Amino acid sequence: MSIFLDTLAGKKTERPPVWFMRQAGRVLPSYMKLKEQYSFWEMMQNPKTAAEVTLLPIHDLGTDAAILFSDILVIPYAMGMGLEFTNQGPKFDVPLTELEHPLENLNPDPQKLQYIYNVIDEVLVKKPKEIPLIGFCGGPLTVLLYMLQGLSNKQHFPDAIKFIYRNKETTKKLISTVTELSITYAKGQIKHGIDTFQLFETHAGLIPAELYNELFIPAVKKIRNSVKKEGIPFIFFPKGFGTGIQLINESICDFYSVDWQTPLTDAINYLPDNVGIQGNIDPRLLYASQDRIEEELRKLVPLHNETNKWILNLGHGFLPDTPYNNAKFLVDWIKKTKW
Ligand code: CP3
Repeated sequence: MSIFLDTLAGKKTERPPVWFMRQAGRVLPSYMKLKEQYSFWEMMQNPKTAAEVTLLPIHDLGTDAAILFSDILVIPYAMGMGLEFTNQGPKFDVPLTELEHPLENLNPDPQKLQYIYNVIDEVLVKKPKEIPLIGFCGGPLTVLLYMLQGLSNKQHFPDAIKFIYRNKETTKKLISTVTELSITYAKGQIKHGIDTFQLFETHAGLIPAELYNELFIPAVKKIRNSVKKEGIPFIFFPKGFGTGIQLINESICDFYSVDWQTPLTDAINYLPDNVGIQGNIDPRLLYASQDRIEEELRKLVPLHNETNKWILNLGHGFLPDTPYNNAKFLVDWIKKTKW
């Protein structure tokens, strides 16, 4: 029995289920300790450590689901792009915008994702039976922006977006290449036993919603369709999509992960009844006092009676210096409150 899976299925539960984007790592003292011994890349490629980190938030915070400890950039890596995780974030050796023929330089190799399936196998052996495992990949725009720009510290991806406007046809082909490998990857994760799949489209808000709808939503639908065909729920997190939410329906996702900019009640109003919601606490609220955090949480209580289809989460991932005690307070409060 899992209240997370029950909520995804639209069943009434005694409280909303809770998990957090970026819960594996970052805020956990136990993760910081492991990081003294291993780099992120080492931890994530070794099934033993990756499975251990995947399950840390279950034990330390008490979340209702685990998310696979990996990264969205494993897809470009499996296409042969050299990738490094630096202190300033991820960095590709050669950004695609620097190449005359970006497509010819990509060599998608599904074998290069095998190590992640080994992580899933290991998680399934070790995890408590009632805790579901969430698999994921990056949204086609977000992954492509990193591939084109190469660097994460240019947060607005100026060269990448210039490229998209200048090279629409090549962009479409690149989207299709990323989408195909993402589908193979999603199917592989499902075959190895994940319970739910989330698409992290963190940078949806960097281009107009109409352009996102034209170029990227068809790719999202393809990924969604192949996940649904395998019989598991599909959650979509297009951060910063704004009024683009009005374009969403069940042919795009089962649950819509709402960013912290969008009030949950607005999201409910915009979305059709058969699409559930996830979210959307501002991760920065966790810097406030516990009294202040509680004041905001109380406002959420009526929502659980309004809908059976709400998963409590953040409106974006945990920030690196979030106080662990406040994250723990949040989960404890959700579990002890009468909803
Ligand atoms: O949610 C989880 O805890 C599961 C694992 C996960 C990671 N990255 C681990 C990670 C997930 C779901 C992601 C997704 C991801 N990766 C996104 C989309 C979601 C989001 O938060 O916006 C993006 C844009 C990336 C790309 C990426 N990977 C960046 C920008 C960075 C560096 C800065 C940072 O920490 O976000 C990474 C590295 C990374 N991915 C770390 C972790 C735990 C940090 C490694 C470390 O501890 O140094």
